[in-house]
Amino acid sequence: MTDLQDVVDSVYHDLADRIGEGKLADYIPELATIDPKQFGIALVTTDGTVHAAGDAETSFSIQSISKVFTLTLALGKIGDGLWKRVGREPSGNAFNSIVQLEQEKGKPRNPFINAGAIAVADVVLAGHLPKEAIGEIVQFIRHLADDESIAIDHNVARSETQTGYRNVALANFMRAFGNLNHPVEHVLGVYFHHCAIAMSCRQLAHAGLYLASAGRNPLSGGSVVSSSRARRINALMLMCGHYDGSGDFAYRVGLPGKSGVGGGILAIAPGKASIAVWSPGLNENGNSLLGSAALELLAQRTGWSVFGQ
Ligand code: DON
Repeated sequence: MTDLQDVVDSVYHDLADRIGEGKLADYIPELATIDPKQFGIALVTTDGTVHAAGDAETSFSIQSISKVFTLTLALGKIGDGLWKRVGREPSGNAFNSIVQLEQEKGKPRNPFINAGAIAVADVVLAGHLPKEAIGEIVQFIRHLADDESIAIDHNVARSETQTGYRNVALANFMRAFGNLNHPVEHVLGVYFHHCAIAMSCRQLAHAGLYLASAGRNPLSGGSVVSSSRARRINALMLMCGHYDGSGDFAYRVGLPGKSGVGGGILAIAPGKASIAVWSPGLNENGNSLLGSAALELLAQRTGWSVFGQ
């Protein structure tokens, strides 16, 4: 039997001399100030056992990984009605592309590209003030991770609010097509704040555990979503979680995963574990360079894959 702590340690060790590779997400100025020489891995098995290495306790900006949690909330609120607003096909385009949105009349391809996540934020906002919706998202993530200390990094939220011109364009485009029900500033307020939530690899792996264990959070024993919904969220992560790098991630890693420009990736080995990796340097698709390499090695060494043994 493979000792998972040995696997996690060996992956960290084998990549340690590459720490610092990749490019920081400098289009959000606050993220460009992060020390790139950081690398953490946390793996939580479905029985709640944690295996960690490196900077697994350091908080980082989860950015687009938060879209998994807002999607879960939005599906809880309006169920399959969400698919009238957002598609569920891979985009083959960059996460912040506007081209497809015009061709497809304001309906984003999937809930993980920025446009799709902005439409999801609009759904979460329904019936709330922006600050209530933000509070609901933070509370949900705290509940999933069983950790009340999780919070928003307001410097990151402010930094993106001041410079997120492309997202302003995407949101206005959708509003023009009638696919946002609330004022653009309110929707983007929710979106920028949930992207700015800061978590460690360990907290993130805990929070993702419901996707590895048929919709239940084994730590609290409670059901978060139905098992079929968990499977479908995993399917979306596999097909769309790494944008135009999703095919390559599926080929190399073979597990559902969601990346963020803060350098984190949440990956799910169904029935086995939730895994969070973090290293700030990104590849050309805006996904963590070392994080992807770490998950590739980890999948090889555990034999975990959704495609077979
Ligand atoms: O909207 C943005 O551009 C960021 N708040 C999130 C983008 C992101 O994390 C893309 N993921 N790799």
